[in-house]
Amino acid sequence: MSKKINTCTPSTPVMSVGALSRRSGISVSAIHFYEREGLIRSTRNAANHRRYSRASLRILAIIKAGQQAGIPLAEIRTALEPALSGQPLGREDWARISESWRDDLDHRIHMLQRVRDRLSGCIRCGCLSHELCEMFNPDDRAAAQGPGAPGLGV
Ligand code: FES
Repeated sequence: MSKKINTCTPSTPVMSVGALSRRSGISVSAIHFYEREGLIRSTRNAANHRRYSRASLRILAIIKAGQQAGIPLAEIRTALEPALSGQPLGREDWARISESWRDDLDHRIHMLQRVRDRLSGCIRCGCLSHELCEMFNPDDRAAAQGPGAPGLGV
């Protein structure tokens, strides 16, 4: 009796797009989009159907996490570069990627808090005054130099 040996590696293309969609929780159309964008790859089987590796699941998980965090796709692509060149992503890669996104997230949270604080003064106002409204004229450094157009001699 011969024993069957599993020769699949994480990079062996084994999954259909439907299976990848079910396991990742990402729609088939989104998977095709990411493939067109070069973020994941497939190969064709003898019946000319696309097949994806198990490593694609990790890539999709990172894309999903990045998008939930509001990371632009271009930055996600940069973070995934080792995987795009065929290297499987490991736990330490995700640790590195999530660390690199943390500063960006902190910065965006800070910016959103500033916008929220400015917006508080505008609620039910509607004036959009150039002099008064911080939403309309944020970071008005010239205001400290007085009215008019400082520096232009006006
Ligand atoms: S809309 Fe009036 S202060 Fe912003």
